[in-house]
Parts: sequence; C-alpha cells; structure tokens
Amino acid sequence: MGLSEHFFWGGATAANQCEGGYAEGGRGLANIDLLPTGKDRFAIASGKKKMFQFDDEHFYPAQNAIDFYHHYKEDISLFAEMGFNVFRMSISWTRIFPNGDEEQPNEEGLLFYENVFRECHKYGIEPLVTISHFDCPIGLVEKYGGWRNRKMISFYEKLARTLFTRYKHMVKYWLTFNEINMVYHLPFCAAGICFEAGENEKQVIADVAHHELIASALVTRIGHDINPDNKIGCMLAAGPYYPETCSPEDYWQAICDDRDGYALIDVQVRGCYPSYLLKKYEREGICIPFTKGDKELLQNNTVDFVSFSYYNSRVSSANPNRKDTTEGNVFPTLVNPYLKTSDWGWPIDPLGLRITLNLLYDRYQKPLFIVENGFGAIDIPDENGYIQDDYRIDYLRNHIKEMKKAVEEDGVELWGYTSWGCIDLISNGTGEMEKRYGFIYVDRNNQGEGSFRRIKKKSFYWYKKVIASNGEELD
Ligand code: BG6
Repeated sequence: MGLSEHFFWGGATAANQCEGGYAEGGRGLANIDLLPTGKDRFAIASGKKKMFQFDDEHFYPAQNAIDFYHHYKEDISLFAEMGFNVFRMSISWTRIFPNGDEEQPNEEGLLFYENVFRECHKYGIEPLVTISHFDCPIGLVEKYGGWRNRKMISFYEKLARTLFTRYKHMVKYWLTFNEINMVYHLPFCAAGICFEAGENEKQVIADVAHHELIASALVTRIGHDINPDNKIGCMLAAGPYYPETCSPEDYWQAICDDRDGYALIDVQVRGCYPSYLLKKYEREGICIPFTKGDKELLQNNTVDFVSFSYYNSRVSSANPNRKDTTEGNVFPTLVNPYLKTSDWGWPIDPLGLRITLNLLYDRYQKPLFIVENGFGAIDIPDENGYIQDDYRIDYLRNHIKEMKKAVEEDGVELWGYTSWGCIDLISNGTGEMEKRYGFIYVDRNNQGEGSFRRIKKKSFYWYKKVIASNGEELD
C-alpha cells in the first residue's frame, strides 16, 4: 500500500501573487494588479467599487509581489531541492496579450514562461498550469465589461490556443479557471465584473458563469486536439458544509450550501447543468444565455480530472438567527465549536480533507488533484533569520495523513498534492505579505519593504523528507 510511485508532490502559486514585474516585458495591466491592501480591497474584488487604474492613496502589492519574475531560477532550484516533481503556476494573461484583444501575442511574455518551463524540466518538475487564476486584462474589462460579455470566450480561446501550441512539448497538465465558483463571491477578482447600479446581479453572474463554462469546454476541446496527451482539469474552491445539528433542516441547508460550490464544476465534469441549478435559476427568473451549439459543446468536452483547493470546512444552519461567524477561504462561515482556527480565523479541519476527497470522488469518479492546501500564518524569524514553523508542519502533516487515508483506505484516485504558496507570496484575500504559507521565507513586508531574500524554513526540510519518502515519513 501507500501512494503511487508516480504521485505528484509539489507546491502552488499564481502569477499575480508572486511574479511582480507588472510593467516589464511588455505586460499590460490586469484586474488583479488593481486590488490594493486595506479596507477597499474586498469592495473592489467583489465588483462594488471600481478601480481601473492605480491611485496614490493605495498600496498595490501585486506590482512587485515577491519578484518571481526575476527570481524564478533561484525559486525553482529551491523547489527542486525539496524534491518537487510538479509545480503549479498560472499565466499572467497580460504578459501574452497586454490588452487582451491583440491580433498577435507578445513574444517577450511567451519567452518568459518558456524559460520558466525549461527551468522546471531541468529538474524533472512537471508544470501544472492554470490558464486563468483570477486574471483578466483590464483592457477587456474596460472595453467589453469582462466576462459578462460573450466576446470574452474568443479572447480566452486565443490565449489558450497560443499557450497549447507554444508549450506543446513543455506542459501537459492544465486547469482552465482557478476556483470557478469564486465568480459568485469575488466577481471582479475572478471575472473582471463591476456591477452597475440597479442591475440584476444574479443574472450577470449567471451570464459570467455560462461564458466561463463555454470557454472552459471550448479550450478543453482545443487542448485535446492540439495534443491528445494534454490533461485538462477544472478547479473548485472546496470545503464541505457540516449541518449545525442533526435536524433535517440543518442537513438540508448543508446540502444546498454544498451545491452552491459544486454547481459549476458539475457542468465541467458531467457536461450539463445540474437540475437543481436549473430549478434555482427558474425560481429566480434567471435565463442562461445559451446559444446554438453550447449544449453539445459542454456535453462533448468534459474535463479529464477534478482539482480543488481545501483550507477549511464550513457550517450550515437553517436557523437565520445564528450570526456567530469566523473567517474562511474567501467568505466567512458559522463557528464550528469542535475546531480550532488559524491566526486569520480559518477553521483547521484535516478530516475535512478526507471528507472532501470522498465526496468529490463519490460524486464524479474522476481522478482528483489537491492543488491548494496550506496554513497562512505570521512567521517570526529568530536572531539568525531562521523560522521554526512547527505550526505549519503540524497543519500539513495532519492534512497529508487524512489525504493518505482517502487514497489507501477509501480508494480515492488522487494524482497529486501541491501545497499553496510553497514560497511566501501575497495573500489573495487581504493582499498581505505577512500572511505566509511558504516553505521558503521571502524578506518582504506588508508595506512593500524588504530585500526579497529567500530563506528556507524548518518546514522546507520537513517537506523534503515527506516527498523523499513518498509521504511515509511525516514526523
Ligand atoms: C485560494 C486562491 O482561494 O486561496 C489563492 O486560489 C489564495 O489565490 C488562497 O491565495 C489562500 O487565500 P489567502 O486569502 O490566504 O491568500
């Protein structure tokens, strides 16, 4: 028993959270560059407040992030030292098409990623590439309104076709959209959407979701045509809902809340809209903007595997008076008295990962890939600059144990595990640098000060041992 000898071990990042170099190499501006730290961040990310250019009042951490743009060789060699055989990263769309609607791609951007992939292969690291991780050219937001517009499908198609063609011999594992269900929660961040006063926001989101689903199916077809070896997956922000009590009403509420998460990947995996979503749309007076051929496209181009992020579980209650909440990945959840929480209030629930793996495998019978899991914490270097991050090791150890049980005892087919923010990077939720997930510390603070020096944490050596033993040595 044990994990397969081909199991993928590695780490995950996203372009905007690590690259920096926002105005280098001919790169254009993206929605995600314009998310500042501070109190306005959430209003902007959720499409309630417009921010289409930088101003002097805010700090925009993605501009420099951790400067992976200039440090990628050093960073990838550190990943290799830990023994990674996979590295999840995303493409900054505006490095390839600076405004999004150019005829020709930007060669400098293409070359940057080619060099990154070359560096990975030098060490036997397989790139796992997210085509869009919360990334939309601001040019497309301003001109077309982002993903509310069906025209976005053809711009995204062009991006994907360019990537599949150029990197045909370098990349085999692809994800179409990061956490596609985030269109519901962070529409500007996830899809470049700003709401206009008085518009039907639910209809806008349904349009956005449909356009992304069609785009995802279309590029799944194109990716398979260009290279039949390509494996193309969907990506869910996962985390099961537990009923607050054993009352049937609470359980029903938990099922409904879980379905809000599953709804879009149900389409990507099964090839059609689930009946519960169709009925919900019907009740809400929402129309799906189907055009001719959409249904067949969805049906014929389902994903090869299901990937997901898992940070925490959540709690559902039918009781509208329950108001005690704690934070969690992107949105808050009711407090679970059985669980401790992180410094940011996110519940810590390793068994929830085994539950998630089982729920997804029961639901889809498709191979799974854990592409994000990790512990955001404040790291304080000792007098020698070393970080003893035992809290992070504990979190990861307990989650990996549960992951192994899902594979070894429950028979879940799991391709790999990439822990989130394998090198410290800026937080998507808050923009903070000091919410750290990495095995590698980056000398940079919330104010954008620091040398960008990389320092191995205690967890670096621990993860190296975990990988070398294929998950057998977890202590
Ligand atoms: C996921 C995102 O939702 O959670 C990542 O895909 C993000 O981009 C991660 O960074 C962790 O969230 P946060 O808010 O701690 O950065």
